[in-house]
Amino acid sequence: MRITVAENAGFCFGVKRALQYAEEAAAKFGEVFSLGPLIHNPQEVERLAHHGIKWVNDINEVEGRHVIIRSHGVSPEVFSASSEKNLEVIDATCPFVKRAQGYAKYLAEKGFSIVIVGDRNHPEVEGIIGWSNHTALVVESAEEAAEIPLGEKVGVIAQTTQPENSFQKVVEVLQRRNPQLKVFNTICHTTAERQNAAAALAKKVDVMFVIGGLNSANTKKLARISRETGTTTFHVEEASDIDVSWLTGVENVGITAGASTPDWIIEEVLQKMMEINEHEEQMTPENSNQSE
Ligand code: F3S
Repeated sequence: MRITVAENAGFCFGVKRALQYAEEAAAKFGEVFSLGPLIHNPQEVERLAHHGIKWVNDINEVEGRHVIIRSHGVSPEVFSASSEKNLEVIDATCPFVKRAQGYAKYLAEKGFSIVIVGDRNHPEVEGIIGWSNHTALVVESAEEAAEIPLGEKVGVIAQTTQPENSFQKVVEVLQRRNPQLKVFNTICHTTAERQNAAAALAKKVDVMFVIGGLNSANTKKLARISRETGTTTFHVEEASDIDVSWLTGVENVGITAGASTPDWIIEEVLQKMMEINEHEEQMTPENSNQSE
């Protein structure tokens, strides 16, 4: 069995940076709180909790003095609420997300109606809406783009992890409805690179494994992109999720991982696959005869 790991699998720059900030803060202050899990990976969240990196749902639940803003970013109201509560904020908003927030603010100030292409309930999108002074509308598909109310001046922004083709489909619909549309393609290039590498690898292998939190939107998207190539795809969180039968008779396996999947989980999955492979090889009739 041949195992190939896709390029750009695993932690992206923004997640690495947020983890580094959190680890430094926890080492300095004893503990630090994020609003929501620091990353969408339950195994890593559990590991971080042992190092003083905890999470709460709401700013009012923070027991300590230090709050870390996740790479997804937050609305301006969270910054004001933190300062009212005298909390020290460590801002780990990814610079690519900050860029999208900046366009939302700019467009709102200039009186544009704003369309965000993304997942309505994703924390990053909720944060960007805040920066638009809560005026932005979210569309998740080209069909929705055909229906939403548009003003005279319209600007469009993307959630950083949107697939490029979904964004372009929405832009086409909006441009037909408003030829003066201002387009800000705020898709993060690492996302596009990871998605392209996953699709390219999926086309070459018999089975794809996408590793990452089942609650991670970008990992789910990778799994969808891989399935769309027609290749059987399994979305797993960790090595113990792998069913041996999935690899029976398989020659070429591809692996990719979401932006919030730590290297140690990818390595455990690789290790398990190699063990399964060794076991299978020992069980082939040829080898069984030799050992008799
Ligand atoms: Fe930032 Fe892109 Fe990661 S927006 S958080 S580097 S996926």
